[in-house]
Amino acid sequence: MTRRKVFGGNWKMNHGLSETENFLQEFINTKISSDCDVVLFPPFTGLHLMQKYLKASGISYGAQNFHCEEKGAYTGEVSLAMLKELGCTWVLTGHSERREIFKESDELVAKKTRMALDHGFTPMVCIGETLDERKAGKTKEKLNHQVRAALFGMSETDVLKLTFAYEPIWAIGTGVNASQSDAQEGVKLVRDTLANLYGQSIANQISICYGGSVKPNNIEGYMSQADIDGGLVGGASLKADDFSTLVNNGVK
Ligand code: PGA
Repeated sequence: MTRRKVFGGNWKMNHGLSETENFLQEFINTKISSDCDVVLFPPFTGLHLMQKYLKASGISYGAQNFHCEEKGAYTGEVSLAMLKELGCTWVLTGHSERREIFKESDELVAKKTRMALDHGFTPMVCIGETLDERKAGKTKEKLNHQVRAALFGMSETDVLKLTFAYEPIWAIGTGVNASQSDAQEGVKLVRDTLANLYGQSIANQISICYGGSVKPNNIEGYMSQADIDGGLVGGASLKADDFSTLVNNGVK
């Protein structure tokens, strides 16, 4: 079964307007494989530049966050309708920084994922265990729980529109990346949970990325693993040449 390869660049709270413009000018002039989905997730302020530069480029973009209501008195928040106007087609949900720092619950992650689907976005649902959970032998339990919670009430048709990212929290931004076999094991646990819920044939069609200190020189190793279909990349997506090299190495 060949699944679509996906490479996401999560810029987090990095790159103002001039850095974004510099990145995009270089990135669109670089040869990037079209044999995969490449998705940039800049801060909200950079989205209009994505719209300007990436139109008809084959490169997608999306938002790192959004609010779970349609509109109204929610000071500081951004709605899915606003993101759609900016041409976004993807969103991240459940990123560990949203869960840990901003206290997003499993219920909120499920609600946001549902809403994003209803608005026609492709959600990349992130899950992962902490170092303490791993040391306590609770990785399987945590991943199983997060996947089930995020998919609450979802049909087969819904779940086929999702992409997942397994990101062990201890490997994010630390330079301590998971070994290829740890990454494969985590991604496989996600796929097994999907298979238990929706059957193996559905589970086999869903792209699942690994994230956590993915770099141009280690992506090939991850992609050689049976269940890993791409990468969600933070630090190494901030420079156009790093990220294009990473994507091209990943699709080799
Ligand atoms: P990193 O971030 O590549 O800098 O570890 C990954 C992520 O948080 O998605």
